[in-house]
This record gives sequence, C-alpha cells and structure tokens, in this order.
Amino acid sequence: MIKGFIFDLDGVITDTAELHFLAWKALADDMGWQFDRDVNEKLRGVSRMDSIGIIMEHNRVSLPEDEVAALATKKNDIYVASLDQITTEDYLPGARELLTHLRQEGFKVALGSASKNSTKVLQQLNATKYFDVIGDGNSVSKSKPAPDIFLFGAEKLDLKPAECIVYEDAESGVDAAKAGGFFSVGIGPKDRVGHADVCFSSMKEATLFEVKSHFKDLF
Ligand code: BG6
Ligand code: MG
Repeated sequence: MIKGFIFDLDGVITDTAELHFLAWKALADDMGWQFDRDVNEKLRGVSRMDSIGIIMEHNRVSLPEDEVAALATKKNDIYVASLDQITTEDYLPGARELLTHLRQEGFKVALGSASKNSTKVLQQLNATKYFDVIGDGNSVSKSKPAPDIFLFGAEKLDLKPAECIVYEDAESGVDAAKAGGFFSVGIGPKDRVGHADVCFSSMKEATLFEVKSHFKDLF
C-alpha cells in the first residue's frame, strides 16, 4: 500500500531550470565556452559537478580538479544569488495543490533532490512545511541515477520503497526511482520520462485523484 510520496524539486515543485541555465551561461560566457539550451537540457537532474563535466566535455576542455571545483562554486554563487527572485507564487501549476492534498490525506512526504540548495528554494516558496523529510544533495554522496537519495527519504519516513511513489521530471531521476524499487510518476515528455510507471505532461495533470486511479490496487 502507498503510504508516502517523494518529490524531486527542480522541475517538479518549481522551475529552477531557467536560473540554473542563466548561471551556467554566465560562467560559460566568461570562460569562452559554448553553452545553449540544448546542452542545458542534458543537465536536468544531474549534480553540479557532473553538470560542469558535461559542459567541459561539450567544449573539449579539461582542467585540474581544483580549478573545476572553483568554477562550479562560481556558478553556484551566481545561482544562489538568483534564488532571491523566487517567491511563493513560483510553484509549478498544480504542485502546491498536490502537496496540500497529501497533507490533508495524511500521507508522509519527503523531498528527494540532487540540489545542495534545496533548503533555500523551499524557504523562498514557503514550502518547507509540506515535507516530513528533506533529502537533497547534502544527504547522500551518490547522485541520480543511483537510487540513494530516494532510499534515504524512504528510510527517514520509515517506509519501504514499495510503499512510496516518486515524482520526477528527469530521465536519470526516473532511473533512480526504478533502481530503488519505487513506484514512479514522470513529469514531462514521453521521450524523457516515458519509462516511469505513469507519465503526465505537467504537474497540473498529476493530481492525487489521477495517481490513485492509475495505481488503484495500491491505495
Ligand atoms: C538538480 C537540477 O535538481 O540539482 C540540476 O535539476 C542541478 O540541474 C542539480 O545541477 C544540483 O543543484 P545544485 O543547486 O546543488 O547546484
Ligand atoms: Mg528535476
């Protein structure tokens, strides 16, 4: 039986992808690296250090580890400053309603994000109150597609993976949910998250009613 839900943050609760894009773009421009929205799309759900690796590989650049880390920090400083723009109006349509509904129905809820900035994003949205457990890039060392972040959330919620549904917008996130034995809801196009147990084009469609109808034997 489903007793809990674990949510990815970026692209599920709110759309920080644009802010990540602008911060990576500022760094890339500074370095004279090519970077566009197509490359940015490959960074969805991917950790900060893996992201800079993808951008450098795209530009056929290699640098010593400490320089790469310093550049990732520079991008992060730009990104974190831009998070001040996020307000309580910046939930993706349907996300706040779903989180409220889950609270009303007494489900356990965890965050399972790759971001090390999730606390700040949740504060800006005033969304911390919807989560029993915050799992993020600071909670585990292996990032998605490893299942560790979702296993961390389930364990803290005191639930088994088979008692939880994971919401994800990234291909690597759905892979992580499946690898951990979780049920999965994909948010976005089929060519990205079509391997989830059920896929919706946006959070607006992914209501508790729809999810209960799909997994009807589990509620
Ligand atoms: C994920 C985003 O949620 O977090 C990625 O989809 C991002 O684009 C990753 O790189 C890490 O985020 P942060 O905030 O730790 O740099
Ligand atoms: Mg995401």
